[in-house]
Amino acid sequence: MAAKRKILATNALPYANGTLHLGHLVGTIQGDMWVRLQKMLGHDCLYICGSDSHGTPIMIQAEKLGMTPEAMIEKIRQEQIKDFADFLVDFDNFHTTHSPENKELVELIFKRQLEKNNIRTRTIKQFYDPVKNMFLPDRYIKGECPKCGAKDQYGDSCEVCGTTYSPTELINPYSVLSGVKPIEKESEHYFFKLENFTEFLKEWTRRGHLQEQVINKLDEWFEAGLKEWDISRDAPYFGFPIPGALNKYFYVWLDAPVGYMASFKNLCEKRKELNFSDYWESEDKTELYHFIGKDIIYFHALFWPAILHGANFRTPSEIVVNGFLTIDGQKMSKSRGTFIKARTYLNHLPPEYLRYYFAAKLSDRIEDLDINFDDFTQRINSDLVGKFVNIASRSASFLNKFFSGKLSSTLSEPELYKQFSEAGNEIADKLNRLEYSQAIRQIMALADKANQYVDEKKPWSLMKEADREKEVQAICTMAVNLFRLLMIYLKPVLPQTAKASEEFLQIKPLQWQDKETPLLDHTIAEFKPLMQRIDPKQIEALKMSTQAELEKPAAATAKPEEVASEKKYINIEDFGKIDLRIAKILEANHVEGADKLLQLKVDVGDGERQIFAGIKSAYQPESLIGKHVIVVANLAPRKMRFGLSEGMVLAAGPGGSELWLVSPDEGAKPGMKVK
Ligand code: 2FM
Ligand code: ZN
Repeated sequence: MAAKRKILATNALPYANGTLHLGHLVGTIQGDMWVRLQKMLGHDCLYICGSDSHGTPIMIQAEKLGMTPEAMIEKIRQEQIKDFADFLVDFDNFHTTHSPENKELVELIFKRQLEKNNIRTRTIKQFYDPVKNMFLPDRYIKGECPKCGAKDQYGDSCEVCGTTYSPTELINPYSVLSGVKPIEKESEHYFFKLENFTEFLKEWTRRGHLQEQVINKLDEWFEAGLKEWDISRDAPYFGFPIPGALNKYFYVWLDAPVGYMASFKNLCEKRKELNFSDYWESEDKTELYHFIGKDIIYFHALFWPAILHGANFRTPSEIVVNGFLTIDGQKMSKSRGTFIKARTYLNHLPPEYLRYYFAAKLSDRIEDLDINFDDFTQRINSDLVGKFVNIASRSASFLNKFFSGKLSSTLSEPELYKQFSEAGNEIADKLNRLEYSQAIRQIMALADKANQYVDEKKPWSLMKEADREKEVQAICTMAVNLFRLLMIYLKPVLPQTAKASEEFLQIKPLQWQDKETPLLDHTIAEFKPLMQRIDPKQIEALKMSTQAELEKPAAATAKPEEVASEKKYINIEDFGKIDLRIAKILEANHVEGADKLLQLKVDVGDGERQIFAGIKSAYQPESLIGKHVIVVANLAPRKMRFGLSEGMVLAAGPGGSELWLVSPDEGAKPGMKVK
């Protein structure tokens, strides 16, 4: 076996002001599978994380909720711990950046950078909200894009034309917090001289710590020239005060990555055998891996190594960057109803299905990972249930039924076993190189082979023949052994099924090297189904729950006075976004399997459209034909179980049978705009 490695892996720290969603899980699960593999290979590998607990959004969110930031971040940290654990992510520690360890480390790093003359102070002008009495981060200022004039664009970039700019360039800027026009105000800030590290970083980034795509991205940044980095923020701010400075705080992005060190330091306090300096002060004894998303490359591949190097700490061995999660090829979005929370998923589907799906799609390239739920269902049902688990269920049932669970004492097909067990070296190598999808493909090809073996040997028909029990036992022993090998290879992905399999096989927790020794002359326990097929209804229910959560009024978490000031009015432009049109109902039908919906074919002036309307309890389809109604014509089409719904029909009333369609006076024609 290769020498034992000592590895510390980290996952990007999620902010402590929001719920975890499926996007957070890509890197977390990718990292977890990698760490579990290392552990199975016999290495010392630790996986740590924590909540990223500082910054303006956290301060504002806590204020909105009427909580102290401390109480809110702790509540969210507990939720994050539970969500990750329920996705079978096995963190050795989940700490917080708002901790004494982090404060001490950030102060130390800052002090060392000051001593090395890597920090300068300078007075800059920034937007200030005169009502809230605070400086405004770019995201809290909105206005018209200086390039294309689009309204309500953030202070850093325009979502319409993609231009990036500074907030002072916005036309008619306003504070998102108070709505007033911000004023420009001067303040002294602390800057980290990143440019001092240009040569170091150019060399470091080419030393095999990064994926090729990241190196290319960095080249662009090097070409543009590295610039100083503002690491301070003015009060009020939720963070650590800068020692020796009045009303100044460290910027959240300075103490966030230091949070990796702090989480580890906290772990050292719990596990006395761990030594902080082995992991952070030397590159010879240990390895350091950071799993992150592609949006935070700059912080991790430039600032972070420079900060560490400048403060005499080690730099990372590798930064593993993953892409974004998309759903049906599009960014997860609240308006499309595809913003799936981690907990909502767990309410409907087992965590291992998502882990497997991610594994089946991940590579070491920075590509977006798309969830298509038809494909998802297909893969789980066919790969995991149809192929993998099937090997165990079809052979174990014979062993249980006819041989009291006893396996033969020799392998009938040692060559086949060898083929499977040797493949384990390639699979480990692929998993280790983060080429998960390749590994899964190889594992599934082996699963096909194992099923083929059972198909060819037909133990069920042999059992009917006289004196062939031994053969049947040997075939099933062989199949159980092939299953066990595949279970070893899938264990980093499916830890729960691995545990259930270990129980059913009555064996100790599987390690990678166990592939070398077949399980013979051994009694297995009663086989219990390891996995269930996905019923499309579960997916439908997940989508419905997601939709329902998104439709819940935001007021549920906001304070009453805020609802009054922020939510009561929309302006004329907001109203103008809704394209209300007169429509004529051409057809109306019942929808099979739907309790509330009617399928309508309507004429909105631009041809025929289909709309599913929840009016079944109030209207008979026949009574609707020819009726003129009002529809929201520019509502994004929504794919429903029954088909595409291309708009919404307006109706009033509490619901049920008390529902009235809104209709125009006589004379209005289809397609006319409602103003
Ligand atoms: O982008 C984010 O979600 C940050 N909270 C990630 C921080 S990673 C590390 F630096 F702490
Ligand atoms: Zn623009």
